[in-house]
Amino acid sequence: MATMGSLIGLVNRIQQACTVLGDHGGGAGGSLWEALPSVAVVGVFSCLQSSGKSSVLESIVGRDFLPRGSGIVTRRPLVLQLHKTEGGQEYAEFLHAPRKRFSDFAAVRKEIADETDRMTGKSKAISNVPIHLSIYSPHVVNLTLIDLPGLTKVAVEGQPESIVQDIENMVRTYVDKPNSIILAISPANQDIATSDAIKLAKEVDPTGERTFGVVTKLDLMDKGTNAIDVLEGRSYRLQHPWVGIVNRSQADINKNVDMLAARRKEQEYFQSSPDYGHLAHKMGAEYLAKLLSQHLEAVIKAKIPSIISMINKTVDEIEAELDRLGRPIGGDAGAQLYTILDMCRAFDRVFKEHLDGGRPGG
Ligand code: GDP
Ligand code: MG
Ligand code: NA
Repeated sequence: MATMGSLIGLVNRIQQACTVLGDHGGGAGGSLWEALPSVAVVGVFSCLQSSGKSSVLESIVGRDFLPRGSGIVTRRPLVLQLHKTEGGQEYAEFLHAPRKRFSDFAAVRKEIADETDRMTGKSKAISNVPIHLSIYSPHVVNLTLIDLPGLTKVAVEGQPESIVQDIENMVRTYVDKPNSIILAISPANQDIATSDAIKLAKEVDPTGERTFGVVTKLDLMDKGTNAIDVLEGRSYRLQHPWVGIVNRSQADINKNVDMLAARRKEQEYFQSSPDYGHLAHKMGAEYLAKLLSQHLEAVIKAKIPSIISMINKTVDEIEAELDRLGRPIGGDAGAQLYTILDMCRAFDRVFKEHLDGGRPGG
């Protein structure tokens, strides 16, 4: 039987191809891109109240690797592809530097920041062009997440006024896609009804069938209060279960508390909590990662027929373009079109094998 992990990997490769292709199904408007299921991570950024979005992603990966700092740090979409390995060394690779293996995650953090600046200059503006990062590790599940700039209300110093709207527009291109799964992150020390992540999710997914609600900072709630009504779906109903998270505090980060130790500490928090003890097995970043991985697999499976038809459409478009240009076409543009054509045909074949329940060919 075809494994789910390999299906997620397959979609990863098409997603990468879409970025390289430019017009042919590339970019947010592209049809093939739109056919691909993905998990878009939405949270709020403000100087006063962060959602803990970076912390959740790092905990899902089990590594410190995201740029930190004040201001809007995530300024390009980060397509984060996690590949579970059976053991061996953990490493990361960027699509823009394919021959370089990073085993030092501090260097990964620096490369994300540098690559962001390469596209946006030091202007602190945002760019729609995604950065693709793959992480290979025995501590992850097969999963692809797209980290997006945090929704914000005000431009900070040095940033253009338009950034508030630009970020919202960018986030919308991802969450509007009917195939996108929305990971909406809100802090527990804020009323869920006023969470901008939930407000946006509610707008684009009113029935809550593709939204996963995450509540962070449970440990920071006022004494005597808890988030049980949110976690049990009474405050805001979604089709999927809400997941509560306790990330590392700033003091933990300063002390360099290791991510895997933090995951254990989080589990202990839930198991020993009088409020959340009965939910402990459904809480925490590790559980969230499994839940998302399983859901993403199921969604991809269900979408195979439409993905196949989009691949065929893309092949037809490229062939028409090659005809228009008059074959054979030399130069970089020609080589790229032929490469994409070959890739689409290979994807088409492998997806069809999955559809038949057969063994993937490659
Ligand atoms: P982002 O701006 O949404 O990406 O938020 P970060 O993940 O960078 O977190 C911002 C700050 O909040 C950091 O100092 C984190 O240590 C802290 N933080 C995030 N989540 C939690 C949590 O669940 N509990 C506690 N105590 N602190 C948290
Ligand atoms: Mg962040
Ligand atoms: Na993957």
